[in-house]
Amino acid sequence: MEKRIHFNHYLAITISLLLAITCGYAQETDNNFTPQSGQAGKDVVWVPTPQALVDTMLAMANVTSADYVIDLGSGDGRLVITAAKRGATALGIEYNPDMVELAKRNAMEEGVSAKATFKQADIFESDFSQATVITLFLLSDLNLRLRPTILNMKPGTRIVSNTFSMSDWESDLTVRLNEMASWSTAHLWIVPAKVDGNWKLDGGQIKFTQKFQYITGTLTMGNEEMEFSGKLNGDKINFHAGGMEYTGTVSGNTIAGTRTGGGSWNATR
Ligand SMILES: C[S@@+](CC[C@H](N)C(=O)[O-])C[C@H]1O[C@@H](n2cnc3c(N)ncnc32)[C@H](O)[C@@H]1O
Repeated sequence: MEKRIHFNHYLAITISLLLAITCGYAQETDNNFTPQSGQAGKDVVWVPTPQALVDTMLAMANVTSADYVIDLGSGDGRLVITAAKRGATALGIEYNPDMVELAKRNAMEEGVSAKATFKQADIFESDFSQATVITLFLLSDLNLRLRPTILNMKPGTRIVSNTFSMSDWESDLTVRLNEMASWSTAHLWIVPAKVDGNWKLDGGQIKFTQKFQYITGTLTMGNEEMEFSGKLNGDKINFHAGGMEYTGTVSGNTIAGTRTGGGSWNATR
């Protein structure tokens, strides 16, 4: 009996020691990871967004505690951590597992690990459709690959990119912090509602031709045809036709709004 106690005691100590050594080693390996600007990444290298531009990007997207921010390719976690400090819930998706662990440690050190979380995954195989704000520091061709998915997100979703464009989808706002410095330009896009096509309204019809957030079209009332151009801001639509300004909210297959001097208007398709 006594022998068995001694044996069990010895076994427990050995297991504890082994666990301590293994965990200590794993901890040491993680803590020693120091990222190098320009290091290889799956589809793009890691270069950190300067903190001044991080702040600008999140301000341009007007990130608040109501938002769910996802950074695609989150690196050391700075966009996610800063979004969490603004009160948002934020997720970083990053392919490099060392960067994911580093970002988690950074979030812990900054006291925001409850709101700033990180996931090791490929952004091209991830579902980010629930985000209200997407942040990007990728490359133009990667933005273009993401663009169809982004355009299918909820109207009003804000997309902010460090430097790189969305090809012929013009930004709604571009801010340059410093003409001379690299990585100092941010672009904002607001996902527009889809209105392209023919709509019926009381006493007439509207045909919208949509190119991203820009619309042109024809409003037909009886025998009168009025050409117009206008813009979408998320689910908000605005155009001038026949001397009146039309504003409205697009909700799937209905638009409801008001026109200057003419009361309300509703369109369906
Ligand atoms: C230019 S860095 C930007 C880091 C961070 N968003 C920032 O602005 O500081 C791009 C990041 O994307 C990661 N990355 C590259 N391809 C990826 C992929 N297919 N899925 C997830 N992350 C990827 C890289 O490892 C790198 O950390």
